[in-house]
Amino acid sequence: MLEVEGKTAVITGAGRGIGRDIALVLAEAGVSSAVVDIDPGGVEETAGMVKESGAGAKALRCDITDPDEVKRCAGEILEWKDQVHFLVNNAGITRDNLLLRMKDREWEDVLKVNLTGAFNFTRAIARHMLKKRFGRIVNIASVIGLIGNAGQANYAASKAGLIGFTRSVARELAPRGITANAIAPGFIQTAMTDKLSEDVTASMMGSIPLGRFGTGRDVASIVLFLLSELGSYVTGQVINCDGGMVMD
Ligand SMILES: NC(=O)c1ccc[n+]([C@@H]2O[C@H](COP(=O)([O-])OP(=O)(O)OC[C@H]3O[C@@H](n4cnc5c(N)ncnc54)[C@H](O)[C@@H]3O)[C@@H](O)[C@H]2O)c1
Repeated sequence: MLEVEGKTAVITGAGRGIGRDIALVLAEAGVSSAVVDIDPGGVEETAGMVKESGAGAKALRCDITDPDEVKRCAGEILEWKDQVHFLVNNAGITRDNLLLRMKDREWEDVLKVNLTGAFNFTRAIARHMLKKRFGRIVNIASVIGLIGNAGQANYAASKAGLIGFTRSVARELAPRGITANAIAPGFIQTAMTDKLSEDVTASMMGSIPLGRFGTGRDVASIVLFLLSELGSYVTGQVINCDGGMVMD
């Protein structure tokens, strides 16, 4: 039913956390992955884990904010595989601060990784997908991009921007057989959320109707659905993965 076996994905930010879980869930479904991250050790480890589950993997160190590095990285991926079917723009960072204390650098860094990075990779891979007349793009946004959060103006703006980007790409590439969707995770337990204080974590838990934090695999399951044949008539959408935290 899935029809993803033997296909190839590119996953950014796959050196740990949600990106790693996406690579592992896709591997279980028979998808090979080019795992990309600024942290070379992390992606080597992820690639090893993917290979252990029997799928192909290629680890690539790349700073997605640098368009030249992204171009080189996309070139290496296309030397490895003739066709890239799936792109998952997952890499993201936080640099939280209250508005009046927020440094230019904190604003710029978050926009550069979360938004410009996704643009850089999508542009590089979409060129190839257009030629093949097939592609599935999934961008990992956040519920914060929908509802905002005090102390996260930079992050919320980047994720709201990513949603607008996703919808434009979906409209532009739909005629050529390419879908683009976003997933908006709520509170997913990873290194990104481990640094939050106990107070913040407890108040977050109170706002989750399903009464548990999410896992990387919860997000990865939706990625798999969107990449598979089951999700082939879905484009330009934002799917929340948040235990019911945000209902609209
Ligand atoms: N964890 C959550 O609760 C949560 C909630 C909503 C959305 N998200 C989003 O999910 C995605 C993954 O989050 P996570 O929790 O796994 O984070 P994480 O910090 O554990 O992993 C992010 C990865 O991105 C990589 N990265 C950072 N900058 C990069 C760059 N310039 N080039 C290439 N790689 C880079 C990091 O090295 C890291 O391996 C992010 O986009 C995040 O915003 C996470």
